[in-house]
Amino acid sequence: MHNVSLEASHHPDLRWRLEDLDFAPIDCARLRQRDDLFLLVCSASFIESGTDTYTRNLVDYFADDAEVGTWLVEHWEPEELQHGRALKTYIHHVWPEFDWDGAYADFFSEYAKLCTLEQLEPTRGQEMVARCIVEMGTTTYYQALNTVCDEPVLRDLTWHIRNDEVQHYKHFYHYFLKYREREALGRPKVMAALWRRVAELRQSDADIALRHAAAWHFRGREKPPTFNAVSRQVYALMSAQYPIDLAVRMALKPLLLGGRMQRWAERPLVAVARRVLLN
Ligand SMILES: [Fe+2]
Ligand SMILES: [Fe+2]
Repeated sequence: MHNVSLEASHHPDLRWRLEDLDFAPIDCARLRQRDDLFLLVCSASFIESGTDTYTRNLVDYFADDAEVGTWLVEHWEPEELQHGRALKTYIHHVWPEFDWDGAYADFFSEYAKLCTLEQLEPTRGQEMVARCIVEMGTTTYYQALNTVCDEPVLRDLTWHIRNDEVQHYKHFYHYFLKYREREALGRPKVMAALWRRVAELRQSDADIALRHAAAWHFRGREKPPTFNAVSRQVYALMSAQYPIDLAVRMALKPLLLGGRMQRWAERPLVAVARRVLLN
């Protein structure tokens, strides 16, 4: 059941290609012991692979904006899908016995229900704020994963992906500025969108992905760990390396506070975030 797609994607605009990565040097025997890395890579592969479901919503929402629509379809979506394909290929290489397609189907049946049009923000400017927060989340996730993993191929791959996510953030931010003008979007509305999305970041998507990755990975083991134990372990590993300063800086940017105000707001927020994360 492992029909991992290895054929070239032939997209002219991808800034790196899965086909150019060499998986041969991976020390699979050593890596196979690392349940934590499996779960982090696998749950990321699920969310990335589910991207096209979300894209339909986004593309519909920006249907009469050719600039945004074109970028979403020609750049953003193929890049996100390549992230999913690359992570899936990595999993398949190191854990060939894992039934990725089966696990993904399970994950997807639950995940797809969350991706409805009603989940989008009330205005396009606010949706762009939400997208910035999502890309902030992925940027910092892959940066932390890059620090946590000591396997060179995975380090390389996570860094490629991290850089793509930074570019996505920059695009969504640019489009946010456009709609902010157009909608005369004030700071309270930006704040509201920002808050809604930040509050959502920790639960939903990542939790669903992790739950299905763990359920399928530990299936058949004599004493499978509880989901609580699994998520606590993975969370502790990541939060120790999580780039909090970067997260706060990226999250605050759409508020356009100006240099001094932003620096003034950053410090207490970093402190709060650090306390929340490291507890
Ligand atoms: Fe991605
Ligand atoms: Fe992204």
